[in-house]
Amino acid sequence: MSDERKVWFNGELIPWEKATVHIFSHAFSRGSALFEVFAVFPSPGGPVAFRSDLHMRRLWNSAKFLGMELAQTREELEKAVAKTVQANRLNQGYVKIVAFWGIESFANLVPDVKLDMSIFAVPATVDYGDVSKPISACIVKWRKIHPESMPVEAKAAGYYINAMLARREAYQRGFNQGIMLDTQGFVAEGSVEAVFMVKDGVLMTPPLGRILPSVSRQSVLDVARVIGIPAVEKAIKAEDLMTADELFTSCTVVRVLPIGRFENRTMEKAPGPISRQLIKVTDDIIAGRDERFKEWLKPLL
Ligand SMILES: Cc1ncc(COP(=O)(O)O)c(C=O)c1O
Repeated sequence: MSDERKVWFNGELIPWEKATVHIFSHAFSRGSALFEVFAVFPSPGGPVAFRSDLHMRRLWNSAKFLGMELAQTREELEKAVAKTVQANRLNQGYVKIVAFWGIESFANLVPDVKLDMSIFAVPATVDYGDVSKPISACIVKWRKIHPESMPVEAKAAGYYINAMLARREAYQRGFNQGIMLDTQGFVAEGSVEAVFMVKDGVLMTPPLGRILPSVSRQSVLDVARVIGIPAVEKAIKAEDLMTADELFTSCTVVRVLPIGRFENRTMEKAPGPISRQLIKVTDDIIAGRDERFKEWLKPLL
């Protein structure tokens, strides 16, 4: 069967296998690619993107934080995303945007050119493991990159060596996800997920400043506030996770993913009552059943 997948690359749709860069490119050899991943869901009027406005804003912020320049306007990129989704007949899955310095650079660390731009539409069938069951998580020895070393609010490929180390350590210890502390010893985030805990009916998550401003983290907080779950952003210690009533992680792929085992502790309930409520409302939102959050789903036309 022929591969009909198309990639939007610098203004045109090209075959999937042609979407390549040179090994000497700055993006490949220095890890400078900026990226975003957001979910696409089916709706009666065609595929819709989940909070793509926030993802687009984060992409522009990533470029700003790292002193890079995108070649497109927001509007041009939004149109290109819709075109890519249509060309790939994507109804449910993910859009991945990768903006990168494709320029070959052997010695030049700071190219003075705009970023190349690529857009991928990936079906939901890609293997993320079984996300219907609670996961296990542990604290890993690797610390989240310090915000004075790199602007952690940016989403850049090079940062993910830190994430890879954390995830691998978790796997080696028999856990699904590894949670990193920051360099001051407070809970930061997972490799690619935000961390939440519930204690005495209050939802808590670490504050911004030392973690990626995750869109699903923001969405969980927004939902909690609308449905009346008290929610705070505050510094959390590893010990707090040991005594939490509920724990979950959050990312684009699974907005509320209960942790059933944390270190050597088996949680009494996973999902617990608040996580369960958040799962129900976010499931309704993505299915277009909750009028209060309708604007979170943007038609991809
Ligand atoms: C470091 C990090 N934290 C958190 C997240 C979750 O972010 P989002 O909810 O925007 O997917 C990601 C997603 O890739 C991530 O890479």
